[in-house]
Amino acid sequence: MSMVHLSKKDLVSILDLNKEEIESILNVSEMIRHKHKNREMFFPLLGKSLGMIFTKSSTRTRVSFEIGMFQLGGAALYLNPTDTQIGRGETIADTARVLSRYLDGIMIRTYKHSDVLELAQYASIPVINGLTDDEHPCQIIADLLTIKDKKKTLKGLKVAYIGDGNNVCNSWMYAAPKVEMNMAIASPLGYVPAKNVTDKATELAYAAKTQMLITQSPEEAAKDADIIYTDVWASMGQEAESEKRKKEFARYQVNEALLKSAKKDCIVMHCLPAHRGEEISAGVMDGPQSVVFDQAENRLHAQKAILSLLMGK
Ligand code: CP
Ligand code: NVA
Repeated sequence: MSMVHLSKKDLVSILDLNKEEIESILNVSEMIRHKHKNREMFFPLLGKSLGMIFTKSSTRTRVSFEIGMFQLGGAALYLNPTDTQIGRGETIADTARVLSRYLDGIMIRTYKHSDVLELAQYASIPVINGLTDDEHPCQIIADLLTIKDKKKTLKGLKVAYIGDGNNVCNSWMYAAPKVEMNMAIASPLGYVPAKNVTDKATELAYAAKTQMLITQSPEEAAKDADIIYTDVWASMGQEAESEKRKKEFARYQVNEALLKSAKKDCIVMHCLPAHRGEEISAGVMDGPQSVVFDQAENRLHAQKAILSLLMGK
């Protein structure tokens, strides 16, 4: 299969990708996964290196990017801001310029989305967003791959997102219309997605002739859903609000009762890490409709595709 290169240098937002590019990433992910499962060597990034800056914790993103680079013939370098000059005030622009002289790509997980945009602006090499307060694009690509695996198609499916209008929700709101999926979001008042995200997602959904519903009712969102998706109630950086959020989100748990509103063959997704007994019941998390560990595995395959397409030029 030929590799269709992506038009943008970076992957900072799902908005950086058009429908065809998302489809290409999914096709390349499937091809790369097939080779990996068959133990076929595939080294499009031989001799190339990725720097990985993390100012927030990570299990899946760190391990899948690091091992993904290794499997593609390249190397990955973990950069902890407290051990580098980033933590001592070297500017993002200077860091971007310097790292561009050594590396072939940068993955960054941090708080401010604008920091990633600035890094991408000053770096001559691809910059990949490994999660910001606003978005988590690599997660959603892996999610779409998982849905394609389970449902054989994306077009026309309904995803119900139950919980906080956070980074994962935002990226999903941009992605759903691009792949012609319908989306319903149920969040408590005060935790709905930001207006700028809702406006953009609504515009995309209007153009794609898909639905984008925001409601306070988990049952309404889950009605006839093909996919029920949830994420933690308190994201990284919101730990101080954790107890308050537990009370305000109590009605927004993905559990056996909520699944009754969805289609019988509905699958349940969670980007992980999960808190059983909070946003998801233990029974659903570990039950037959849960695909969360296949979803986690697909982070590896999807990111290898993203790395190959961005850095294999
Ligand atoms: N889903 C996800 O990004 O997990 P990590 O925080 O472990 O990277
Ligand atoms: N919304 C969560 C996702 C973790 C992968 C967070 O930002 O902490």
